[in-house]
Amino acid sequence: MKAVYPGSFDPPTNGHLDIITRASKLTDTLIVAVLNNPSKNPMFSTNEKLEMLKELTKNMPNVKITSFSGLLVDFCKQNDCKIVIRGLRALTDFEYEFQIALTNKTMDKEIETLFMPTDTQNLWLSSSVVKEIATFGGKYDGMVPKIVKDRLEKKVNNKGVC
Ligand code: PNS
Repeated sequence: MKAVYPGSFDPPTNGHLDIITRASKLTDTLIVAVLNNPSKNPMFSTNEKLEMLKELTKNMPNVKITSFSGLLVDFCKQNDCKIVIRGLRALTDFEYEFQIALTNKTMDKEIETLFMPTDTQNLWLSSSVVKEIATFGGKYDGMVPKIVKDRLEKKVNNKGVC
């Protein structure tokens, strides 16, 4: 089975990595697809996200890292993939995730979305929270992998010199 795990990954967290690791064990090929959407004002460029994700998954041979623009259903079609994986954290994710899943299904009835519950320790973890903590100099050990932490620190420090 081939599946796509799409997201903004701004930046990738331990929660994302947990889903990638678990989903890669259930799939023959897992495509991690970074949404290329500069209008969202991301902290990291698509290239930076791809570099981080490639580094984090270098020991997972069936995981492919790529980016996409436009609609997810079009990306799925182009890659001959009918399964979308999304992680679910607390109940608050549910409505947003349901909307995405049903919208995609309305556009392409062949697409199935599979939800994976996050690991309990990542229940409240999000890229936005990590960025906020990093920006204000707080501690976020255990929330992101080391290479992401290093890059976040560099970003925050570079911004702080103006
Ligand atoms: O990590 P995120 O930001 O929760 O991921 C959201 C994502 C990238 C899966 C979603 O925004 C998406 O698929 N965007 C592509 C545009 C699209 O297909 N829109 C219609 C479904 S909402």
